[in-house]
Amino acid sequence: MAKNLDLKSYIRNIPDFPKPGIMFRDITPLLANAEAFGESIRQFADHFRDEKPTAILAAEARGFIFAAPLALELGVSFVPIRKPGKLPFDTHAFHYELEYGSDSLELHTDAVGAGDRVLLVDDLLATGGTMQACAALTKQCGAEIAGFAFLIELDFLNGRENLLPHNVMSLIHYNGED
Ligand code: PRP
Ligand code: MG
Repeated sequence: MAKNLDLKSYIRNIPDFPKPGIMFRDITPLLANAEAFGESIRQFADHFRDEKPTAILAAEARGFIFAAPLALELGVSFVPIRKPGKLPFDTHAFHYELEYGSDSLELHTDAVGAGDRVLLVDDLLATGGTMQACAALTKQCGAEIAGFAFLIELDFLNGRENLLPHNVMSLIHYNGED
């Protein structure tokens, strides 16, 4: 029914946000349209079903939006990765450097383990730094990576090179300010 939907047409382009020179890709029009949002979840599920993931992991905040319905669609666990100090049980932590400063993410130590095949999901692949951190946390738990799924990929930042040789799939691509 929702076949051939142009998902990119549901992304709103906001020039100079959050600072001059940045073209922000606003996903809220897609989220507001149940047909387009549902189609994105179905396309993720159809692409990765044969990989037989046992858990969908995502980092707060925007990753959660796609990971939770995808986990339900595939009938597997949803596992949150969070900013420091938010998860109540024992955690693994991964610290990483940004252009200005550093950041950190945490995952419950018992969230996934040996025998799990984890699909990592986010709204956007830019440099890949966030997903590299999530992948490192997944490996600290002893789980295997089934792949990476993104709604949007900024091709010109080459973030996927940091995630290979895993299966990296994005539904919408930008090569510049198109
Ligand atoms: C954004 C986006 C991705 C990440 C992509 O998250 O949701 O998670 O940046 O960038 P990268 O590939 O260079 O790591 P942000 O940190 O802005 O936080 P949010 O999801 O809480 O809005
Ligand atoms: Mg994010």
